[in-house]
Amino acid sequence: MEKMRTAVIGLGVMGRQHLRIYKEMEGVELVAVHDINESYARQVGEEYGVQAVSSAEQLFAMEELDAVSICTSDEHHYALAKLACKYGKHVLMEKPLATDIGQASDIVRMVRDSGIVMMVGHTLRWDPRYYRAYEAVRAGSIGAPLHLFARRLNSYANGKRIQGRTGVLMFLGVHDIDAIEWVTGDRIVEVYTVEVSNRLKEYGTSDASLSTLKFASGAVGLYECGWVLPDHYSEIDAKLDIVGTAGVVNVHVLDQNIKVHTDTREHYPDTAYGVELYGRISGIMREELASFAQAVRSGAKLPISVEEAYRAVYIADCMERSAREGKPVSIGSELP
Ligand SMILES: NC(=O)c1ccc[n+]([C@@H]2O[C@H](COP(=O)([O-])OP(=O)(O)OC[C@H]3O[C@@H](n4cnc5c(N)ncnc54)[C@H](O)[C@@H]3O)[C@@H](O)[C@H]2O)c1
Repeated sequence: MEKMRTAVIGLGVMGRQHLRIYKEMEGVELVAVHDINESYARQVGEEYGVQAVSSAEQLFAMEELDAVSICTSDEHHYALAKLACKYGKHVLMEKPLATDIGQASDIVRMVRDSGIVMMVGHTLRWDPRYYRAYEAVRAGSIGAPLHLFARRLNSYANGKRIQGRTGVLMFLGVHDIDAIEWVTGDRIVEVYTVEVSNRLKEYGTSDASLSTLKFASGAVGLYECGWVLPDHYSEIDAKLDIVGTAGVVNVHVLDQNIKVHTDTREHYPDTAYGVELYGRISGIMREELASFAQAVRSGAKLPISVEEAYRAVYIADCMERSAREGKPVSIGSELP
C-alpha cells in the first residue's frame, strides 16, 4: 500500500495528537475526522483540511479509508471496534482495549474473524526507557528477576477529569501491567489488591490501589497506581525497579532532566512523550503511530498483539475484583 488513508474518531487530548502526527507522517493521508460533538468536529476538520463525518458508521463505511484511530473515552471503544470489524478497517485503539472483560474478549474474537490489524496504544512499548529495561532483562543482564516495584501516579486534575467513567487500574494500570509482563517475560499468576477512596469518592472511584503480584517464575512484585498527586507537582511519577539474581534495572520517570521554575510553579516539561522539535512532533507517540502505519502498509509485525492488550484488561479486572472481595485472585493464562 503506497499510502495509508486514515481517520481519527474522538478529537480530545489524544485524538488531536494522532491528527497532528498523521498529518506530518510520510506515507499517511488524513481523510476524515469524527466526534460526537459535531460542531467541534467541523472546526477540527477545517483546521486539518479534511472532511468531518457526522456519524461513526458513515465514517467506517467510507470506501477510500484503510484505517482509523479510535481516541474516544474508554467506554466507547467496544461499539467502535465492532464497526471497524464490520467494515474491515484497521484500527489503532487508544488503551485500554475495553473496560469490560466480556467486551475485551469479544473484540479479540472479532479482530481474528475479520482479519483487520488492531494495535492498542500501550505507549510504554515505545518508551525508550522501558524498551531499554526490556532489552536488559531479556538479554539476561540482571540474571533472573526476583522482585520488582512498579508505580504510576497521575495528577488529581487527571483523576477528576475522568469523573469516575473508568477506574484508575483500567485507565492507568493497564500500561504497567502490560509493561511488567513484557519487560520480564514472566506471567503474573496472582494479584492481591487494596484501594483507598477519598478525594475522588464523589465520583465513586478510588484514589489509588496497591497490588502484590506473584509470578509464574516464583518472583514477586508490588504495584502502586493512583491519580491524586497535587496539581502543582509533576503530572506523572512512574517507576519500574527490578532486582534480579545478577543485577538491577531502574526506570524512573519524574524528573525529565529538566526543571522549569516560574513565580508560581516549578515543573518538569515532557521530554519523551510528544515533543515538538523544529515544528514537528517527535517522541513516543510518533513512534507508536509509525509502528501502526508500517503494519498496515507493509504487514510489519505489531509490537503488541491484541491478545496482549486483552491480558492487561483481564489482569486489571482481576485486581479490581480482588479489591472488592478483599482476597487474592488467581490469574489464568487462557485467551479468548
Ligand atoms: N496512551 C496514553 O498514554 C493515553 C493518555 C491519555 C488518554 N488515553 C486514552 O485515550 C482515549 C481518549 O482520551 P482523551 O484524554 O483524549 O479524552 P478526551 O476526553 O480529551 O477526548 C475524548 C473525545 O472523544 C469524543 N467522544 C466521546 N465519545 C465519542 C463517541 N462515541 N464517538 C465519537 N467521539 C466521541 C469526545 O467528545 C472528546 O472530544 C481514552 O481511551 C484514554 O484512556 C491514552
